[in-house]
Amino acid sequence: MHIISSPGAMQKRSQSWRRQGIRIGFVPTMGYLHAGHLSLVREARRRTGKKGKVVLSIYVNPTQFAPTEDLAKYPRDLNRDLQLCREAGVDTVFTPGDAEMYPGGRPQGPAHKDARPTGFSTYVVEEKLSQNMEGAARPTHFRGVTTVVAKLFNLVRPDVAVFGQKDFQQAAVIKRMVADLNFPIKIVIAPTLRERDGLAMSSRNKYLDAEQRAQAVILFHALQAVCAAVKKKSVSAARLKADLKEFFTAAPQARLDYVEFFDPGTLEPVTQVRSGTQMALAVFVGKTRLIDNAPL
Ligand code: PAF
Repeated sequence: MHIISSPGAMQKRSQSWRRQGIRIGFVPTMGYLHAGHLSLVREARRRTGKKGKVVLSIYVNPTQFAPTEDLAKYPRDLNRDLQLCREAGVDTVFTPGDAEMYPGGRPQGPAHKDARPTGFSTYVVEEKLSQNMEGAARPTHFRGVTTVVAKLFNLVRPDVAVFGQKDFQQAAVIKRMVADLNFPIKIVIAPTLRERDGLAMSSRNKYLDAEQRAQAVILFHALQAVCAAVKKKSVSAARLKADLKEFFTAAPQARLDYVEFFDPGTLEPVTQVRSGTQMALAVFVGKTRLIDNAPL
């Protein structure tokens, strides 16, 4: 397995693969890998074949974190990640640093008003699908995601890139960016992997203490409860939102940030929820913000 940290070297390697007609599968991550990420690697391998190359990037992208968020304490363990990548059969791990991705430096400390690094001034902004839910709760988040993913696509030059369904809105925004900007890349969305009790796997689960971890499963239970409520009938979104507020009082460590019911294609909120509607929610468990979603 090769480890590359220079963007130029990454680009050269993928250009050489492409000249040889080798297919490239790509899994972008922020590291602290778990079984969910490894399932994306398997999907990338499946899509590129034995002769293809699978690249996984590890980069905690500062521009997608607001100054008040968890950039500094985001979990990192590069040695463990590299070992997992070796075991999973990744061909190349791309681990750029901030100086390579954002020459001129990244924002320093909470006094910084905007997560915009100095010395870098071109951003990719999706304007429709990124407005509600995560986009409303984290106003500069998707601009950071689309910008870094566009940069990574230009460096890795993949044929296929695999993203997790857990970040449903992110996947939709990236698909839209790829279509709008004509990136010749197939975007594959792989299913969410869950812990035994149903909690969606996430690097941020590491922040939870034992009591919070036990209560965090309420996200999954909320999805299940709504699935059951709308089985074979349509229910008003307002009614479900009111019921969910009540539902969350059972887990005192959990605070509902938002819950939304929407059309999975347009991401537009619906007023009547029925089978086929998508549900997404964000919940603070202690100080940790977790997200999950499901088709109903
Ligand atoms: O989903 C993530 O881990 C990140 O948002 C991504 C796509 C790697 C961009 O930094």
